[in-house]
Amino acid sequence: MTTQLLKNKKLILGVTGGIAAYRAVELLRHLQRGEAQVRVIMTRNATRFVTPLTFSSLTGFPTLVDSFSDPAHWEIDHIEIARWADLLLVAPATANIIGKAAGGICDDLLSTTICACDCPQLFAPAMNTRMYHNPAVQRNLELLRTQGVHLVDPVSGALACGDTGTGKLAEPVAIARAAGWLLSAGMSLKGSRLLINAGPTREPLDPVRYLSNRSSGRLGYALAEAAAVLGAEVTLVSGPTQLAPPIGCRLLQVTTAREMEQVVGGEFDNCDVFIAAAAVTDWMPLYSASKLKKGERVPDLKLEAAPDILARMGARKQQQLLIGFALETDDGESEARRKMESKQLDLICLNHPDQGLEGDEIRLNLMTPDGTSEELSGHKEAVAWSLLQKLASMLQARFAASQNTD
Ligand SMILES: Cc1cc2nc3c(=O)[nH]c(=O)nc-3n(C[C@H](O)[C@H](O)[C@H](O)COP(=O)(O)O)c2cc1C
Repeated sequence: MTTQLLKNKKLILGVTGGIAAYRAVELLRHLQRGEAQVRVIMTRNATRFVTPLTFSSLTGFPTLVDSFSDPAHWEIDHIEIARWADLLLVAPATANIIGKAAGGICDDLLSTTICACDCPQLFAPAMNTRMYHNPAVQRNLELLRTQGVHLVDPVSGALACGDTGTGKLAEPVAIARAAGWLLSAGMSLKGSRLLINAGPTREPLDPVRYLSNRSSGRLGYALAEAAAVLGAEVTLVSGPTQLAPPIGCRLLQVTTAREMEQVVGGEFDNCDVFIAAAAVTDWMPLYSASKLKKGERVPDLKLEAAPDILARMGARKQQQLLIGFALETDDGESEARRKMESKQLDLICLNHPDQGLEGDEIRLNLMTPDGTSEELSGHKEAVAWSLLQKLASMLQARFAASQNTD
C-alpha cells in the first residue's frame, strides 16, 4: 500500500550512516510511487554504506553530501533546499544525527539543513537496541518530540549485529505512509486518546473451522496509523488480519467477538474517542469441542447473538465521542440513522457494499445526529484522512462548547 497523499509534494530525504541506509533506497521508491518529488542529502558516513550514485540515478538529481562544494547554480545548498521542501524526512536516523538535531549542532550539510528547515520534520531512528535504550538517546528523542519533530518509532526484531530488540528501522512503506499523513494538512490530534477496533472476528465452530467475514481491517488500520502520526495516543483492538502492525499504536490482538468486547470494554473508560471500524460478527455458532464429522447428515448450525459492542459502549458513554459504521444492502440511510440513534453515536459512516470490504477503495456517507450527510470516496488512506479531519473538527467544536459553558 503506497500512500496517495504524497502526490507532487517536495521531500528532502536525509540518509545517515547506519546499517539500514540501504533501506532508504526502498523508501525512496515508495515515495516516488506516491509521485513525490524527492532530493537526497547523505551524511559523509552514509556514503560508506550506499553510494550517492544510487540515489542520483533514481531521483535524476545530484545527491548532496558536502556543504562546501560549489552548487550547480550559485545558491547556498542548505538554504535553497530548506526553502524548497514541504517535508524533511530523515531515514534512517542515527543516534548521532538525533543528538545533533536535538542540540542544534550544524557541522555537515544534513544537520545544517535540518536546522534551516521550517517545514515539518519526520525522523525514523534505527540503531542497535543498546544504543536505542541509552538514556542520552532517549533524552534526545524526547527533545526532538518537544521541538515538534515527528518520529516513526523503530520496531522490535533481529538486528544486523545479532542482537534482538527495539531499534530496527520501521518498514519503508510505513515510513512513506507516515510522510503522506503529515503532508496532507496542518491537523493535530495531540492530547486525544483514540480507541479503534478493526478487522473481522472469527467465531469457532469446532477445533478446525470458524465463521468470519471479508473485512480486511485496512480502513481501521489506516485510521489508527494516521491518528498516531498526528499525535493521538492510539489503542487498536484488532481481529485477525493480514496487515502489518500500524506504526505508533498500541496493538491488542483478539480473535472472537467476546474477546473483542472484553478488551474494548477494558479500554473504553480511558478513551476520548471510540471508532468502531471492526466488522464484528452478529451471530456466533455454538461451539463443538470435537470436530464435526463429515457424514450423510449435514449438521444444523445453532447460532446465538454476539455481543453488540457498539451498543454496549454507547450505553456506557460519558464524555466520549462515538463513531460507528454501518454496511447495509437495503434501506442504508434509514438503517444507519436508526443505528446512530439507538447506539448513541456522534457520527455514523454508511459503507456501501458495492466497493467491497477487501479492496483499496471505499465509499462512505458520513451522517450526524443533526441530519447532515457528506460523501467520502476514494482510496482507503485518503478516506481515513478525511474522516480524521472530520473528527478533529468535532473535537474542536466540543472543546469550544466546553469553554463557553465554563
Ligand atoms: C557497520 C556499522 C553500522 C552502524 N550502524 C549504525 C546504526 O544502525 N545506527 C546508528 O545510530 N549508528 C550506526 N553506526 C555508527 C554510525 O555510523 C556513527 O555513529 C556515525 O558517526 C554516524 O554518522 P552520521 O550520523 O553522520 O551518518 C554504525 C557503524 C558501523 C561501522
